[in-house]
Amino acid sequence: MNIRVVATTPFQDQKPGTSGLRKKVAVFKSTNYLENFVQAVFDTIFDNAAAPPGSTLVLSGDGRYYNREAIQIILRMAAANGIAKVLVGQGGILSTPAASAVIRKYRSFGGLILSASHNPGGPEGDFGIKYNTGNGGPAPEKITDTIFARSRELSSYRIAEAPDVALDRQGSYAMGGMTVEVIDPVADYAELMESLFDFAAIRELIGGGFRLCFDAMHAVTGPYAREILERRLGAPTGTVINGVPLPDFGGGHPDPNLTYADQLVAIMYGEDAPDFGAASDGDGDRNMILGRRFFVNPSDSLALIAANAALAPGYAAGIAGIARSMPTSAAADRVAEKLGVPCYETPTGWKFFGNLMDAGKVTLCGEESFGTGSSHVREKDGLWAVLFWLNILAKRRLPVEEIVHRHWAEFGRNVYSRHDYEALPSNVAAGVMTQVKGQFAQLPGRRFGDYRVKFCDDFSYTDPIDGSVSTGQGLRIGFDDGSRIVFRLSGTGTEGATLRIYLEAFESDPVRQKVDAQQALSGLIAIADELSQLKQRTGRERPTVIT
Ligand code: G1P
Ligand code: ZN
Repeated sequence: MNIRVVATTPFQDQKPGTSGLRKKVAVFKSTNYLENFVQAVFDTIFDNAAAPPGSTLVLSGDGRYYNREAIQIILRMAAANGIAKVLVGQGGILSTPAASAVIRKYRSFGGLILSASHNPGGPEGDFGIKYNTGNGGPAPEKITDTIFARSRELSSYRIAEAPDVALDRQGSYAMGGMTVEVIDPVADYAELMESLFDFAAIRELIGGGFRLCFDAMHAVTGPYAREILERRLGAPTGTVINGVPLPDFGGGHPDPNLTYADQLVAIMYGEDAPDFGAASDGDGDRNMILGRRFFVNPSDSLALIAANAALAPGYAAGIAGIARSMPTSAAADRVAEKLGVPCYETPTGWKFFGNLMDAGKVTLCGEESFGTGSSHVREKDGLWAVLFWLNILAKRRLPVEEIVHRHWAEFGRNVYSRHDYEALPSNVAAGVMTQVKGQFAQLPGRRFGDYRVKFCDDFSYTDPIDGSVSTGQGLRIGFDDGSRIVFRLSGTGTEGATLRIYLEAFESDPVRQKVDAQQALSGLIAIADELSQLKQRTGRERPTVIT
């Protein structure tokens, strides 16, 4: 096998975000762009001796446009860089949680995951790549920083001259001294799910006429959902809609929220709606849960899963603790308190949960952004959340809405909403943040109608395991009654800046708990606007997306 050493110019680019490198497809296709990043990863893992001789790498993606081409390039580079073995999902596909499961199961030193999550795909869409370490989770900052630094000093990369691997057939292939194993992308993951949840009880629920609809949004979860929901759990064919993964996700925006999963929303709010609806995103790590004409807020979903965890066999022995990202509502904290387990508040991004899970401090983790998961893998996991809900429903035999209402009645309701202002000019978004932060010295004690400011800060986090400190994680304004407003800039957008405003109030009265969230939060929404001069600065009358 011939190895070419290709001269390249250092990679002049911004630092990869919390979820790896995400760019337009055209950028990834530009000369040496993908190659530079991949060579920097290989250099980093060999320098750190993370990949001793004979190591296995996992390589797969969410099937979006450019997935296959990128996989062939990376395979040739892996062979040229002395990787012994690469596991690839058939068709080049593994959902992000499945990739995490495969890395862990086969004790691989890590994996490269090709995805831009919920961002649109296709020739004009986005592509992405990230490196996960041997625990199955996103690489911690010290490793991503090293990869970034390395990518800026590279002068060449190594690539083998070898034919394409037949990704559509399972089996072993040799590329020089390296073995490429094309594996079933679903089997290992489905087996893991079966070990965690009571499939017999769910089968019985579905057999008894319980109806569900799962929207795979033409993204990676189609084959997983068909295998698990339709084949193993006996849901009728057609339960999974948009189940064929397409390179451009059928032109849609594969993000499971009330705006983009509109087909599912129409079904679940229509006449003759099924009992349960769910959707997942481009790479299968997010989830949205719906009951009949009822939306389950992701923060509530985490709390509810925690409160009912013992109903699932994989969690019957109890949970060690819960972690939630700072902007996620404190609903889970109330459950943790009742269970007598710790609840950690971390910055936004799944990678902050990794250390806590590795140390055995938490079992369940969640973010308000439709991310829920547990220590079974080191990524959030869309289908896992769906199965957890089905397991709960199979045991409790109540409508989704009733389960949520009873939860609120028991724990109180953390009324919650997130308002996103997308594609703002960066300076405008930065101006809003400066405006808010500029008032911090005067805010404590100040009254806004019934609300009195108790504290305000720019959230910072010290990792309890490795002591690393993350600052500038979002502006928090807390009020005496426990209500909260958080301002934060998104770190994942590819167009301008996205401003997120998170609103939370606590309601203990079971009657008032049923008031619509936007109405219940209207006072806080007005305060957020006043504090940030939002309308005036952005020229926007309303958010792009309300959750
Ligand atoms: C968003 C979500 C965040 C999640 C991330 C990756 O990041 O808000 O919770 O971890 O996507 O899925 P953001 O755009 O807010 O930086
Ligand atoms: Zn995702």
